Amino acid sequence: MTESTINRRRDEFPTLVSGIHLLSHSLGPVPLAARESMLAYCDAWEHHTGEDAWATSWWELSQLVGDGVARILGGEAGSVQIQPNASIALASVASCFDFKATGRNKVVTTVLDFPSMEYIWDAQKELGAVVEVVPSADGVSIPLERLLAAIDERTCLVALSHTSYRSSSRIDARAIVEHAHAKGALVLLDVYQSAGVVELEAANWNVDFLIGGTIKWLCGGPACGYLYVRPDLQRAFKPRLTGWVAHEAPFDFAHAPMRYARSVRRFAQGTPSIPALYSALPGLEIIEAVGLAAIARESRRRTEWMIAFALEHGWTLNTPRKSNERGGTVMIKVENGPAMVERLAEKKVFVDCRPNAGLRISPHFFNSDEEVEEAMGILAKLIR
Ligand SMILES: Cc1ncc(COP(=O)(O)O)c(C=O)c1O
Repeated sequence: MTESTINRRRDEFPTLVSGIHLLSHSLGPVPLAARESMLAYCDAWEHHTGEDAWATSWWELSQLVGDGVARILGGEAGSVQIQPNASIALASVASCFDFKATGRNKVVTTVLDFPSMEYIWDAQKELGAVVEVVPSADGVSIPLERLLAAIDERTCLVALSHTSYRSSSRIDARAIVEHAHAKGALVLLDVYQSAGVVELEAANWNVDFLIGGTIKWLCGGPACGYLYVRPDLQRAFKPRLTGWVAHEAPFDFAHAPMRYARSVRRFAQGTPSIPALYSALPGLEIIEAVGLAAIARESRRRTEWMIAFALEHGWTLNTPRKSNERGGTVMIKVENGPAMVERLAEKKVFVDCRPNAGLRISPHFFNSDEEVEEAMGILAKLIR
């Protein structure tokens, strides 16, 4: 492989001494600073004697983390509301639509999306939604024309992954947003498998919603999802999935009707997961400091090398070959995925597998080239 000058900051990730961590599509390694951050949370918690916790730190924290995520998504400050997880972020958006109000009741999604996507839209059928799940001929990608053809004058929302969890296939966000808007439809992209490894341009794409979370490529803890809402659209929505934190004056504890906050906080529900916010901050800071352009470049360089290695060995790839059509993961077909994951783990190579995907292998900025080469070499010996 060619040389890279990226700052890997390996000493800041204690997990990396345990083996070769290639699991950033699933569970990122914890930064050392996250331990300090969580301890700072415990420390502050011990000293809170009442509701002062809200005033002194907790209330602002959601916004601080939200703005950190917004920068990674290519959005402006005030465009992201932290959510309990990506599924709730999606359900919040679903709860904004009244499918029976107009003739626009169609939601377009795809077979390559994470299951929550289909489950949540399927559940909206009872409320009048018509759902089109666009199929994939090869289980890896869907041609852009096929996606665009599904978006018509009855479509209210196009909701799909920017990068697929099962093939790493990446869609052309700008083309989809442009076409959907021309047809009068909104666009939601699940960027869970993109944010932190692929450069995103929420504002430039003019995309309406983005959802995701921090536990994978962003090196944060669990239960810290996020929802980006296009700033000029925010006040047009009244999510039915709501709660007191979404109120314009939450500490008034007023009776209904709900008076939604005039900021992105109108997409909140109840008490935020404060420990999750503390756990997410250090990872966001590291990703931003290393730099998304450098991380994305590094990801392309290594995944290209891995793909060439796989093809030289005659393996079947379940991932697009072209780097602009792919995220940071390479999927390789193996006969018995779970058994291979176990055998690799015995050799201290940590990857996972999914049905119809095969092995999922993800180099991130903290992995050395030697690690990536060693992991692929071990896999070659095991496949033989
Ligand atoms: C692309 C994608 N979307 C959504 C999810 C689920 O996220 P959550 O558990 O936060 O709802 C995952 C995670 O595993 C994912 O890979």
